[in-house]
Parts: sequence; C-alpha cells; structure tokens
Amino acid sequence: MRRAIVRGTGHYLPERVVENSWFEDKLDTTDAWIRSRTGIERRHFAADDQGTSDLGIAAAKAALANAGLQADDIDAVIVATSTPDYTFPSVATMVQAGLGMTRGFAFDVQAVCAGFIFALSNADAMIRSGQADRMLVIGAETFTRIMDWTDRGTCVLFGDGAGALVLEAAEGAGTAEDRGILATDLNSDGKYRDLLYVDGGVATTGTAGHLRMQGNLVFRHAVEKLAATAHRALEKAGIPEDGVDWLVPHQANLRIIEATAKRMNLPLEKVVLTVADHGNTSAASIPLALSVANSEGRFQPGQIVVAEAIGGGLAWGSVVLRW
Ligand code: ACO
Repeated sequence: MRRAIVRGTGHYLPERVVENSWFEDKLDTTDAWIRSRTGIERRHFAADDQGTSDLGIAAAKAALANAGLQADDIDAVIVATSTPDYTFPSVATMVQAGLGMTRGFAFDVQAVCAGFIFALSNADAMIRSGQADRMLVIGAETFTRIMDWTDRGTCVLFGDGAGALVLEAAEGAGTAEDRGILATDLNSDGKYRDLLYVDGGVATTGTAGHLRMQGNLVFRHAVEKLAATAHRALEKAGIPEDGVDWLVPHQANLRIIEATAKRMNLPLEKVVLTVADHGNTSAASIPLALSVANSEGRFQPGQIVVAEAIGGGLAWGSVVLRW
C-alpha cells in the first residue's frame, strides 16, 4: 500500500521574543494570570518586514535540509495559513518561488488553527492517489497582525512562526506495521462562527480585521471535540488508545492540552509541549511542535504519533501516523 511518510521536519521562529511581562504595562494583566490560565510564558513576534511567506520559506528550507533534499525534488507545496501576505497569490506559490522550485504545484489551505491537520490530510490523499511523490506541508502564521492590542482576552495568547514537513511516498506491505500517515479525521461546523472569527475581510470591511474570540466557549468545545476526533482517527487506524506513543496537540492552552490527554488516558510525559515558549501560533503550532520534538530526537521509528487541533469555523481534526 502506498503511504505518505515523514522524510524531514523544520521550523522557523522570528528573532524577537516577547515575555508575558511585556503586556503588564500595556494592559490590565499579569504574567501570573497568563501563565496560570494558559501555560504561555513567551511568544515570538515577526519583524515588520517579515511576511508569512518569509517564515514559511525559512521553515521549508530547514525541512529540506533535514530530509537531505533539494527544492527541485519536491512535487507540491501546501501552506496552511489564515494570515497570508496578500489576498492572492497564495503563500504556497510565494514559498515555491522563494525556494527556487521550477516545477510542481502549490496552494493554500485555510482552516485556522486546524489548518495543518487539513493540509496534512490533503497531502496524504494526493500522495496515496499518485498526484505527487514528495510534498512540503507547511503551517505558517503571523497572527500578531490581526490582534486587537487592547483586548487582553486574545492578544496575550498568540505568536508568530512556521513549521514544515517533507512527506514522501513509500510502498509498504499493506500491514499495520507500515510507517506513515495511517488515518485522518476532519470536522467542521459553521454554526459556531461567532465563537472565533476575524471581524474584517476583502468582501466585507475591506480591511484585515481583528481576531474576536469567546475564549471560555471555545475552551469547552476544544475539550469535548479534540479527544473525540483523536479517538475516531485511532479507530480508523486500528490503533488502541494504549498504543499511542506521542500526542502532538495544537498548542493553544496548557489546560486544554491536559484535559485532552486525560480523556485519552495519556500521561503528560507522552505529550509534546511547546505552548510555554511559542504561545498559540495557529496553523503553525503542530508542525512547530513536531519539528522541535524531532530535532530533540524524541520520536523513534515505528512510534505512533497523534496530532489534533481545533480552531475558527469551528474546524477540528486529527492525524495518526507511524513515525
Ligand atoms: N489578564 C487578566 N484577566 C483576563 C485576561 C488577561 N490576559 N484575559 C481575560 N481576563 C479576564 C476576563 O476579562 C474575565 O474577567 P471577568 O470575570 O471580570 O469578566 C476573567 O479573566 C475570566 O475570563 P474567561 O474568558 O472566563 O477566562 P478563561 O479561564 O476561560 O481563560 C482563555 C481565557 C485563556 C482565553 C481561555 O478561555 C482559552 O484558552 N480558550 C480557548 C482558546 C483556544 O483554544 N483557541 C483555540 C483556537 S484559536 C484559533 O483558532 C485562532
């Protein structure tokens, strides 16, 4: 059976690190509140002259180097983002050009914080169907550009960054021991639009707008939906709950991550955590966490890795893969 295996990982974080204390003289908030309610300690802010594509190109270059491949070895680029440089062209084609790729195809996927899960699922289907043999799947965001800096309930939560995977087709024996993406589970429900949205856009205000969130309601949906989607993907993959070696959750809030791990009967030692240092980087958070953990040598070949995320839409989903 043809499967998509992870050949390489890479990430990029902008140089500027902003500690929680930075917000204390600007807003009615404290480092202690942010840490205790979210687990976030610091985040990275992109420089004024850095676009989402710049972050994506840097992460893609790191993933290619990790895979030992050149840009021309890649057939396709998918970028998950909700903060594109321009309305069009896509960030993915800007990354394609930035890497010097002279062939293949590229497009963006927009499912907010769940975007990387949707992008991975697309890439998996394309590799299985033979559309591509090697793909770059990138999550890249500059969420600081859509913050309302007077809203303490949102602006302390988000950061900028990018992560990338190189996926490659591999022919396996079709047994449960095959490496690569084993199953995906995607969901969305547009009736929850008002819980998390941006109040601007090309066809409405003509501006980029600002992120608006009813955090406590999103929190409740996250806790309920994330473990459920992970369980569905595990069931599709034929992997029991106790067969999970690593959970790589969307890094929005430590309390959501802890509650999800508890519902999956997973100890926190099996959970990859980057939320303290990155904050919520939306579609970039899972590939960032995967790349950081991989660079630390935490994943062993054959281990089962589950990634899950929820975001605006609402949209949510999960991926099960054998490393
Ligand atoms: N500092 C101090 N107080 C604050 C801050 C802050 N930074 N932010 C909110 N508060 C206050 C509120 O104003 C409220 O005060 P009030 O009781 O006087 O009205 C109080 O804290 C409690 O507010 P809640 O919103 O109920 O606090 P909660 O414990 O739910 O924490 C948080 C808020 C951190 C936003 C949490 O709800 C959360 O993480 N939600 C999920 C966010 C998420 O996962 N998003 C994922 C998707 S993101 C995407 O798709 C783009």
